[in-house]
Amino acid sequence: MSTNPQGTALDANSTKKERVAIKPVPPPAVSTAFLLLRGAIAGVTGCPIGGGDNETASSMMQNTYIKDGYPSAKFSVYLGKKNGTACSLFIPSSPEDEDTVSCSYTQNQVLDAIETAANRLVSENIPIHNFRMDRDEAISKYGTVMLDQGQIKPPKKSDENQLLDLAFLPGVIFASPPGPVLSSTGQVGTIVLERKTKGYDSSISAGKKAKKCEITIKFRIIDSSTMETDASIESKLETLTAPIQLDELAPLLSTEIRMIEGILLMEKQKTLQDTLVTPPMTKLVILEKKSEDEHAGEEDMVVNAFEVKGKIDYNKLVENFGSKLIDSALIARIERLTVGRGTVPFLHRFLRRNIFFSHRDMEKICDCLENNKPMYLYTGRGPSSSAMHLGHLIPFLFTQWLQQAFQCPLVIQMTDDEKFLFKGIYDDESGDNLDYYAQLTMENARDIIACGFIQEKTFIFSDLNYAGDMYPNIVRIWKAVTTNTVTHIFGFEGSDNIGKIAFPAIQAAPSFPSSFPIVLGAKRDSTAACLIPCAIDQDPYFRMTRDIAHKLVTKLHPLGGKPALIHSKFFPPLQGAQGKMSSSDENSAIFLTDSAADIERKIKEHAFSGGRETKKLQEENGADLEIDVSYQWLRFFLEDDSELERIGKEYGSGKGEYWSTSKVKTKLIQILQALVSEHQERRLQITDDVVFQWMEVRRLQ
Ligand code: TYM
Repeated sequence: MSTNPQGTALDANSTKKERVAIKPVPPPAVSTAFLLLRGAIAGVTGCPIGGGDNETASSMMQNTYIKDGYPSAKFSVYLGKKNGTACSLFIPSSPEDEDTVSCSYTQNQVLDAIETAANRLVSENIPIHNFRMDRDEAISKYGTVMLDQGQIKPPKKSDENQLLDLAFLPGVIFASPPGPVLSSTGQVGTIVLERKTKGYDSSISAGKKAKKCEITIKFRIIDSSTMETDASIESKLETLTAPIQLDELAPLLSTEIRMIEGILLMEKQKTLQDTLVTPPMTKLVILEKKSEDEHAGEEDMVVNAFEVKGKIDYNKLVENFGSKLIDSALIARIERLTVGRGTVPFLHRFLRRNIFFSHRDMEKICDCLENNKPMYLYTGRGPSSSAMHLGHLIPFLFTQWLQQAFQCPLVIQMTDDEKFLFKGIYDDESGDNLDYYAQLTMENARDIIACGFIQEKTFIFSDLNYAGDMYPNIVRIWKAVTTNTVTHIFGFEGSDNIGKIAFPAIQAAPSFPSSFPIVLGAKRDSTAACLIPCAIDQDPYFRMTRDIAHKLVTKLHPLGGKPALIHSKFFPPLQGAQGKMSSSDENSAIFLTDSAADIERKIKEHAFSGGRETKKLQEENGADLEIDVSYQWLRFFLEDDSELERIGKEYGSGKGEYWSTSKVKTKLIQILQALVSEHQERRLQITDDVVFQWMEVRRLQ
């Protein structure tokens, strides 16, 4: 049983769902709670409230009523335009940061801090100085600092002897409350901010998109213990002249965060930003502003670990992700270390054509290779369907070339656990389908083996089987990465299963050589460097990994434990040179299981053409190669540079043998039919026993 602010027992059940307005004066506990919350907002946000200037103001308290048996009320505090010009918490540290900083706190984090601060004031049971003063005298002495916005205009009726009731709590508040105020904070009870109940919640509006910065508080009071009544308070009020020294007001007017709850909030953000070299998810999801007519119908660019769509601006992606473009100097260096050593005949077309276009610390991998320091390759596949498509093949084909070129060990992670956690099902009758994903690992491993890796140097592993050996490192990564960081990067929500949140550590673990004590013969002090080839969508996992890498390796590690990365662009879907190919749309992709007839049909019917509408227009203008899927696909799969150049020239100008879409499509069909059928032949030779051999835990050469 709770008590109401007058000390009368309230039966919450009997009054449930009723909202009874209390007029005209709110109960003392409500007025007092209002003052404490107002003070808490000022102290937590670093924003002086009141004063009647245009910068900040608090509205009078409105809507005092009994809700669900508890006294409740609402008010809002205006903190200035947009980001809160008067408020340290929301002031951006630099103009570019404008949006991130003001949005780097969630509403609930700020509201929590305010609620905690107000209740701390209650628990400290601080005496409140209540008194009455002549209004004109108070204004001439203190200015309008103690007034709410609505109190600034003088009351209409009488000009003489207007008295103001005032309450003062040092460092917290100096204000004219809406009704009688308790003599100490401890009697208020527990202040609860209403959250996320439809039509009745506290909220914060701040940030670039908000027109103004405003905090709206809806609160209720439970367990009030006061015995003070309006009348008893009234009888104690004294009319005083200027009882507050001006210097006592100075802290209230400073734009500085002065409550521990605000400082902690700032610090938390600071540490998060410090440890988070990784840009947050909000930055991974890049929403391009389109000029309306020009790009009407184009989807926004989104690239993150779970989704790739829209027209992708790879330069922008590199800028946002903080990786580096592969420049000609780096290509030349890689060429010296590969072709120059005679391990491969020429640079891979993916490097020649800027398809692998971005990297992290690739120079350091070159240092290792030049100095004969140990390194290994790591890549992976999430087995979500039995048939892999051509897009999935890109990193594997390139990794095969890298392994051949560097003659180094390679570990390939099959994240059957990931696919079950993200896509798996559970049914009361038939149970779950974890085994299905384990089976897909076997199927996909066949396609991977068919890419031609060196068996003695390659270890393919299923997380479900091998995670035990990596477990010490997984635990270390769990310990090093906070839930905040993971949710920031991957956008997980409270309703996600806990395995999803734990999974990024599993994908991170193979970046550390000591996850392979037998396979790489690596102890904890191993200095072997790791290079990860993948499309750029996987980068978020490894930015997280790189941030904490130093915690898992010896100080002598040449990259401080950080895995290096080399990123590819996306192999586009048939429907258009946007996003990435997807297994879930049968007609967007060519699968490694497709027949020659399937390939022909899909390309003829679905490959988006950059050719012009009529023969005449095509001959006059040529095709738009940028958007033409057949040409773009040839860039990925046609080995001969001079032939590709010729096709580009002829198709792009509408002249010569390859002047038309159908000629280019025919060429593409031939190349892909050959590629896929050769792949299928190799795959046919790979029995279960062969797969087990590649997956056996053994020392690689
Ligand atoms: P998954 O199975 O989604 O993709 C496997 C690899 O293929 C790349 N990829 C593409 N590359 C070019 N164009 C496309 N359209 C395209 N679609 C996919 C992916 O970037 C990836 O390199 N969680 C991972 C599995 C994984 C992994 C790794 C990948 C575990 N450890 C280390 C790379 C490196 C996954 O589900 O990938």
